[in-house]
Amino acid sequence: MQGPKRARVGSEMGDIGLITDAAMIVRDGKIEAVGPQDEIEWIAPADADYCDAGGRLITPGLVDAHTHLVFGGDRLDDFEARSQGKTYAEIATDGGGIWRTVGATRPLNTEELAKRASHHFDLLGRHGTTIAEAKTGYALDRDGELRSLRALQSLRPRVVPTLLAAHAYPKDQDPEAYLAMVCGELVPLAAREELARDVDVFVEEGYFSHEDAERLALAARAHGLGLRMHVDQLADSGGAVLAARLGARTADHLEHTGADGIAALVEAGVAPVLLPGSVWGLGLSRYPLGREMVDAGLPVVLATDFNPGSSPVPSLPFCMALACRFMRMTPAECLTAVTVNAAATLGLETSHGALMPGMAADFAVWEAEDYRELAYWPDVATVHGLPGICYNLNFR
Ligand code: NIG
Ligand code: FE
Repeated sequence: MQGPKRARVGSEMGDIGLITDAAMIVRDGKIEAVGPQDEIEWIAPADADYCDAGGRLITPGLVDAHTHLVFGGDRLDDFEARSQGKTYAEIATDGGGIWRTVGATRPLNTEELAKRASHHFDLLGRHGTTIAEAKTGYALDRDGELRSLRALQSLRPRVVPTLLAAHAYPKDQDPEAYLAMVCGELVPLAAREELARDVDVFVEEGYFSHEDAERLALAARAHGLGLRMHVDQLADSGGAVLAARLGARTADHLEHTGADGIAALVEAGVAPVLLPGSVWGLGLSRYPLGREMVDAGLPVVLATDFNPGSSPVPSLPFCMALACRFMRMTPAECLTAVTVNAAATLGLETSHGALMPGMAADFAVWEAEDYRELAYWPDVATVHGLPGICYNLNFR
């Protein structure tokens, strides 16, 4: 992909700057040159190690801009109940949902949490992801949220941590006291110790209100942290308009966002992060208006929302496949959405998400020849390990 190092909008999203018969020169973990092989051959140093990708597709390492990597246990019982027709809300009321995962996460120490987060990150890596945003949000108490943040530090710089203490109100604490603690203690601490880049909040009936989100946004801003928001996932509560008003970096989910919400995001310059894996995971049919958002000129991002409840989906190619089929996005737009546009929401647009001189040599070699295969037969086009070489030269 050529062009300026920033998110792509509108028709730019379909322009992936494809080079056929390409070659790349890599030095000290950075891309020195990239272009048609017959041009690159002339400038390659005589003593360079040569590595033949065998005509395979090479893309930037994929960037997953919305994941929940730190949790204990699983949600197999929820999954089975859902297969019998129970809804997300019913399962939560019956003792499942986020609170079930809190029970399995709170007993774990930092080291155990880090081990699990690392395992989950490796699952993403098997599907071509090399950089991921990762949220806390399954401890819901001061010390557990801090342990979760500290667990994520061991995965830096591959993982960019977000504080999602406002994922749900804990059932064993006064809600007002909890929110006051998050805004007054956790946010300042996360900022002071540089444990998180952003703060996130789940705005939904039964979770956090618009007023709660506003308090959190003020705390985040006061301490120099950005804001990401889970909005309009299960109903249109005006969450996109709220995200725009609060100047969020990203508005995520947006399954129920309509024309007014889209217009507000455009006006405020908020990036939509769409999570079709969670729609699929919950067995729902209402996908976000991806096509309309691209056409409106938004820098659309696709992410997995990898989590034990709504989206046990580690694969970005699978999310691209869903977006092509249910959101009328093209394979090229999807690739842009999981690379350069995703990287831009993490402040990594000058180093990741595109294969351009000066950027990190962070790429995936696929068992595929055509980029459309990623979404066409997701997870058949696997990440390829070149003999003796890691599929991603920068990979851990
Ligand atoms: O992004 N919506 C809120 N949070 C997650 C689901 C969390 C869970 O069910 O464990 C999501 O879909
Ligand atoms: Fe999420």
